[in-house]
Amino acid sequence: MAGPVRIHNILSNLWSKNAKLGKILQAGNWEGEIQRCLRSDIASAITTTSFPEFDSSPQLNSHLDLYKLSLEKPDIFWGKLARSRLTWSKDFDRVSDCDLSNGLIKWFIDGKINASVNCVDRHLDKYGNRVALIWEKDEPGQEEYITYKDLSLLVNKLSNSLKNHGVKRGDRVAIYLPCCPIAVAAMLACTRIGAIHSVVFAGFSSEALAGRILDARAETVITANEDVRGGKLLNLKKTVDDAVAKASCVKRVFVYDLLDRQVPMNKLDIPLNKVMSESSGESEAVPMDSLESLFMLYTSGSTGKPKGITHSHGGYLTYAAVTFKHVFDYKEEERFGCLADIGWITGHSYVVYGPLLNGATTVLFSSTPTYPDPGRYWETVERLKINHLYIAPTALRLLLKGGDSWVTKYNRSSLRKLGCVGEPLNHEAFEWYRDVIGEKRCDVIDTWWQTETGGICIAPRPSNPDAPIYPAMPMRPFFGIDPVLLDSAGQVIEEDNASGSLCIKRPWPGMAQTIYGDHQRYVETYYQPFAGYYYTGDGAVRHPGGYYQITGRMDDVLNVSGHRLGTGEIEDVLDDHHAVAESAVVGFPHDIKGEGIYAYVILKDGVSESRENIISELRQMTKKRLASYAQPDMIQFTPGLPKTRSGKIMRRILRKVAASSSDDLGDISTLADPSIVDVIIKNHDKIV
Ligand code: WT7
Repeated sequence: MAGPVRIHNILSNLWSKNAKLGKILQAGNWEGEIQRCLRSDIASAITTTSFPEFDSSPQLNSHLDLYKLSLEKPDIFWGKLARSRLTWSKDFDRVSDCDLSNGLIKWFIDGKINASVNCVDRHLDKYGNRVALIWEKDEPGQEEYITYKDLSLLVNKLSNSLKNHGVKRGDRVAIYLPCCPIAVAAMLACTRIGAIHSVVFAGFSSEALAGRILDARAETVITANEDVRGGKLLNLKKTVDDAVAKASCVKRVFVYDLLDRQVPMNKLDIPLNKVMSESSGESEAVPMDSLESLFMLYTSGSTGKPKGITHSHGGYLTYAAVTFKHVFDYKEEERFGCLADIGWITGHSYVVYGPLLNGATTVLFSSTPTYPDPGRYWETVERLKINHLYIAPTALRLLLKGGDSWVTKYNRSSLRKLGCVGEPLNHEAFEWYRDVIGEKRCDVIDTWWQTETGGICIAPRPSNPDAPIYPAMPMRPFFGIDPVLLDSAGQVIEEDNASGSLCIKRPWPGMAQTIYGDHQRYVETYYQPFAGYYYTGDGAVRHPGGYYQITGRMDDVLNVSGHRLGTGEIEDVLDDHHAVAESAVVGFPHDIKGEGIYAYVILKDGVSESRENIISELRQMTKKRLASYAQPDMIQFTPGLPKTRSGKIMRRILRKVAASSSDDLGDISTLADPSIVDVIIKNHDKIV
């Protein structure tokens, strides 16, 4: 079927089958959408401009053809892209060998590659003087520009400093630094000598840091003396000292002076500015096996302690490079403003690796969305002339409340694409982003992915620049991604307009390789829930035309302001309080955070301490042991929890009560003591 006719049929079908989506289209310009789509199919026939690799493939006439090729012949598709987009020290012999039943993920077998060479060295001849990093510090107007040449010097000196102090290939290095040039240099310096970096978000408590250092058995930590964020002083070194006191595996701590202030130095401490100034500016890059670990990053699961998600060299780098270029339609010399912290996967893939692999200019944002006022993002956009913005829905919702005047005050004409990630993007935030921030000129690109997926998996328009974008959904799978929806029995849901468990059917290069030190847990978590599929833990609805809308987590993972937290992690902390007998944590809808934390707490018999005291202690404990965003928003004391006869907590009931929607609780007859439900509802009504 000819391209335009096929697209027309798809759209007509979509119109007739899906009233909801139809309404969305009706609200916009439906005729115009069809026309644009017809044009886009012709436009996307030119795969060669965005994918020169497939120049000589006459059968590829459209975006859809290319997508099909990526699924049906992944080795041809990814093999070509990996070879042309990256520089290999030794070519790979085979593209992939993956087995989803036992979580064996191998990409670019026997290839050798170095990440720092790909991110920095290979750009030096052509654009050594191009700005690689724009460091947007806490105070507006203090930005610093770091060229690829400058970055190269930092990386070489830092990697020599690591090497001279005994850091070796395969060692795990914990990086506890805010988003700043030395943090990027530290990540790349590790990769240069083959050490595995484990960036720990510099807002985490000393206990959270210690847990991550111990799990990775990291002997080396890289940190800074102090930092300021949102006008507040952060004593990073002190947090690291407290963590190191609990983690006896640590042999050395590199301390960089980010602020010109003295902090006490201990016997393990090495002054990083000093040792870098004494190190040579040339450090040999080690060709790493494609399958060796590049980095690990901790994230929360539904049970147990955080998991050290581990990514490999060849697969991760290929996927980060290709998704960055094609999801955002990045053009040379544009300024990319992903305002996430490097402590999260978004920072890894779209502040550091994706942009640098493409020779782009990337912004390192070290402040907060509201410092010194709610106009900060837009003032930064104007001053730095940012072309692509990539932020979280939670920040949008927060800023939206402050009104339009904070936005319109600043010139945003540099903006071309508006990305977001982390949680479902609600209609109101989507429209504000598109109409007010982007003045209806810029595409809004809602991207769905996870720490485990390495890069973006679902996004509106990989390389099909004219196709329409529907509100509040990430829409379409990226090349190589084959999403399916499964019902609770594990059957594939074929029909549209149905929701199910979002799984991915085929391997792709960005997928994580393992959980550090616990491959069994990796297999159980991601491949056993539905044999033969990668299990995401999210629910989704598929609209006609193959457009996906994410509905949220289906497991016991909370998403608070885009940060993942296991309910079990929070309960573990609450249960440690001397007055607490048992607790159960659930999420509830929150205007700004997306999801808030609601804790039900059973106190031990005979506790006389005031309830206010206990609440404040519980909040302090979660802040200290986990992070400040892990503090419960609501704490309800209860004499019991709704449990089945086998002792399983019926969380569905707790969620409904927390959301103040206890009218329809469903069947509660299997509870050991159904009368507890009324008590819980009454107590809830008293505290809201
Ligand atoms: C979870 C992954 C990937 C970087 C940020 C978070 C949720 C992510 C979206 C989106 C709806 C989203 C999912 C996912 N999520 N993007 N566009 N729409 N939900 O990474 O901490 O690994 O969390 O974030 O629930 O599973 P992460």
